[in-house]
Formats: sequence, C-alpha cells, structure tokens
Amino acid sequence: MKSPIRISVTGATGQICYSLLFRIAAGDMLGKDQPIILQLLDIPNARPLFDGLVMELQDCAFPLLTGLITTDDPYTAFKDADIALLVGARPRGENMERKDLLEANGPIFIEQGKALNAVANRNVKVLVVGNPANTNAYITLKNSPDLNPKNFSAMLRLDHNRALSQVARKLSRPVTSIRKMIVWGNHSNTQYPDLSHSEINNMPVTTLIDDDNWIAKSFVPTVQKRGMAIIEARHGRSSAASAANAIINHMQDWIFGTRENDWTSMGILSDGSYGIPEGVVYSFPVTCNNGHYQIVQGLELSDFDKRKMQKSYEELITEQSTIMHLLT
Ligand code: NAD
Ligand code: LMR
Repeated sequence: MKSPIRISVTGATGQICYSLLFRIAAGDMLGKDQPIILQLLDIPNARPLFDGLVMELQDCAFPLLTGLITTDDPYTAFKDADIALLVGARPRGENMERKDLLEANGPIFIEQGKALNAVANRNVKVLVVGNPANTNAYITLKNSPDLNPKNFSAMLRLDHNRALSQVARKLSRPVTSIRKMIVWGNHSNTQYPDLSHSEINNMPVTTLIDDDNWIAKSFVPTVQKRGMAIIEARHGRSSAASAANAIINHMQDWIFGTRENDWTSMGILSDGSYGIPEGVVYSFPVTCNNGHYQIVQGLELSDFDKRKMQKSYEELITEQSTIMHLLT
C-alpha cells in the first residue's frame, strides 16, 4: 500500500470543485492505487455547503480517500501539502475580462502564498486556476520566497485541450493523434494558440488543413474566446467540468510525464526563453519528466508568432503593474 498524498484544494464548495473532487477521490488524477488525503479550503460562509460536500464524499465510499479535512484557514489547508490546487476565487461574468478580477482575487493569493510558504511540503506542486490565473500564480510565488518558483504553475491546459479538440474536429482525427500543440502566453484572449509545430503522424497539421482561412478566422479566435462563449451559453456561469478535467490533465503530465514525442502548455515563470523576459508567468510548450517540467527549446518562430507572443507578454506586464502595490 502506497502512503497517502496530501492534496489541498481551495474554493472547494464552488462549481469547478464539484466536478473535480469526486474524480480525484476516484483515482482519476493520481491513479487507482494511490491513497489520498483531501485538505479542503473555502471561506467561512461556505460551511453549510461544506457539510453537504463532505456527506456526498463519504457516501461515495471511495477506497482511496483515507482522510478529509475542511477548513477556512489556509495554514490548516496547506499543512504538509504535496499538491495544492488553487481554484478558489471569484469567476468573471458576462462583459468582463479575466483581468477585471485582479482587484478582487489578487489578495487571496497573497494570503495563500504566505501560507504555502510557511506550512506546505517543500516539494509541493502548486497549480493556480483562479483567474486571472497567470498573474495570480505570480502573486502566489512572490509570496512564497522559501519555495522553488519551479513549484508553481498557472493553468493553460484548458486552452490547450480546446485547441486540440478544434483540430480533431476539423480534420476528423482522434485527439490523441495530434502532437505538439502550443498555447503561448496569458490565459486571456491575448493568448496565442499556435498550430505551426503541430503534427499528426509526423505530418504538419498546417499542411493537412486545406482551408487557408480556418486557422486565422476560426481556430485562433475560437480558442481565445472560448471561456466567454461558455459563460454566455451557460447563462453567466463559467466552464466547470472542462476546467476540472484540465486540472487533472495538467497535474498528471507534471507528475507522471508528458508522452513521448509530445509536449503540453503550462503557465510557468519565464526564464528568458523565446525572447519573453524573465519574471512573468507565461505559457510555454513544456515536456515533463520525473516530476519536473522543461521548456521545449529550439522552435523556430516567425515575425508573426513573435508579435502575437509579445502582445500577450505586454498584457501580463500591465496586469503585474496593477497589483504591484499588493506585493510591496
Ligand atoms: P465558484 O464561484 O463556483 O467557486 C469559487 C469558490 O471559491 C467559492 O466556493 C468561494 O467561496 C471560494 N473562495 C472565494 N474566496 C476564497 C478564499 N479566499 N479561499 C478559499 N476559497 C475561496 O467559481 P468556479 O467556477 O469554481 O471558478 C473558480 C475560479 O476558477 C474563477 O476565478 C474562475 O474564473 C477560474 N477558472 C479558471 C480556469 C482556467 O482555465 N484557468 C477555468 C475555469 C475557471
Ligand atoms: C475559461 O477559460 O473557461 C475560464 O477562465 C473562465 C473564464 O472566465 O473564461
């Protein structure tokens, strides 16, 4: 029997977590032989919902769920955490950009960064989902100075999966046949979904798409604006089940490794690769191995690619300047 892994999840009574926690407890994230302890955080007002959630988790009689803590104290929630999924934050509504949430959500990640710094396992893997995810991840890692910045990531996997799915549908090919997709930049509508390195059976995807306009006119804007399309379709509620699924995919690849001859997109602290200066949480193509990610190097970029990537970088710098007062 393996020893249990401690998974802290914030925003536990919200809609993403209602799709996420039961899948984690069933073994979908860490495997069917890996016991887990869930350490769930939400605000004090969430107490009645917490009671219902706990009853439902108990009623599933999950064999792998060996411990369950609910709390409104981040220091309790993150104690010895091996994995921290920072979902808890306000979602945007219609007619809002994700960065409009910075004022409301930024302070949450200051407090949680400090708590992670104080009590989490020193090798904790942190995934920030709450929006705007990249800048919130930046705030969190800046408030965790004793932890390695490589332990922190922001979620771009939903965008990556959206991009895979658009191509699979366009070409009537299985999603798994598509390799080397990239979503660069910010989890916002300046993100740059980039097909130019993608392959199916070693053939460039761009040569398989016979419609010149499709990439610029359909693929890129559909992926960039999918979050708002879902909010509108769901009468104001943002994506939840697909976000939960992306959290599971992101953590699986980070922990168990990306598949051979493929990569994924993760929001991570830039190291200067591809001309993106150090010091922003930016999505790059990465491979993962032995629990560590590495930016894929050596990809050729066109001037068009560079302009798109720069635009998303500049947006992140603007977001950072909005919250700089919170960091000092
Ligand atoms: P929700 O409103 O249903 O749930 C949010 C939960 O967070 C609530 O239970 C709330 O009480 C809790 N919360 C608020 N402040 C908290 C704090 N300080 N500590 C702990 N919990 C706190 O929202 P949701 O639909 O679950 O979405 C959560 C966040 O995820 C939003 O910011 C949303 O925009 C974002 N999101 C990101 C992605 C992505 O791809 N990165 C995808 C979907 C949603
Ligand atoms: C998404 O991409 O679905 C989420 O970030 C929610 C949103 O605000 O778009």
